[in-house]
Amino acid sequence: MAATQRIASLEEVPRESTFLFRVADELGDEREAILVANGVESTEETASADGVSCWLNYCQHFTHIKLDKGDGAPMREGEVICANHGAYFDADSGECTFGPCEGAYLTELEVTVDDGGIYLVDDEYEFVGTGPVDTDDADLTSTSNVEF
Ligand code: FES
Repeated sequence: MAATQRIASLEEVPRESTFLFRVADELGDEREAILVANGVESTEETASADGVSCWLNYCQHFTHIKLDKGDGAPMREGEVICANHGAYFDADSGECTFGPCEGAYLTELEVTVDDGGIYLVDDEYEFVGTGPVDTDDADLTSTSNVEF
């Protein structure tokens, strides 16, 4: 399952939000993940993964709830923000720096960058496709008063 799989190009990862895609775990269950390009300038020449990170798209406050509302989580000043109750996660380390799960870490997926492309190289997950999981209705009732 550890084959290198292309997720997206660096150009496709928004700088003010995250790039949403789907992975399957070892049991074949689909989950959502997000790519973050924190502080990465627009470039096709970038050859390292510095500033590029990848996380499962589930909060550490309620771990069955997605960070976003279906189109990637917002980012502000190098932090990923949970759209539900406003927890902040450092985009590089995944640590919650503010909010109800402060001190907890997002679940990291291993990626690498090569010639402007971002590839999933994680032993536990394989790339399925871009966008949200169609059948994931775990958090559709969640409401938010957080404005971005
Ligand atoms: S579910 Fe993310 S802060 Fe509550």
